[in-house]
Amino acid sequence: MELTICVGESCHLKGAEIVVKTFQTLIKKENLGDKINLKGSFCMGQCTPNEVTVQIDKTFYKTRYQESEAFFYNTLFPLLKN
Ligand code: FES
Repeated sequence: MELTICVGESCHLKGAEIVVKTFQTLIKKENLGDKINLKGSFCMGQCTPNEVTVQIDKTFYKTRYQESEAFFYNTLFPLLKN
């Protein structure tokens, strides 16, 4: 899985670095290093007022940094099992 987190200016201001750190921690905790390729990206043209843009393979998602752990388990995790 290609997991790309936007670290452009707008997403940076909404906590993109916290999302990156949360995902890094959870990938390690769940032993998913060989299944997920985590990357950063400049603005993906998807800026929103309160959320960070996350791309999983070709699909864009949004998460608030406060909800990044829930996003990981509720949205990303089920996609891995497909
Ligand atoms: S800065 Fe992240 S989508 Fe624009």
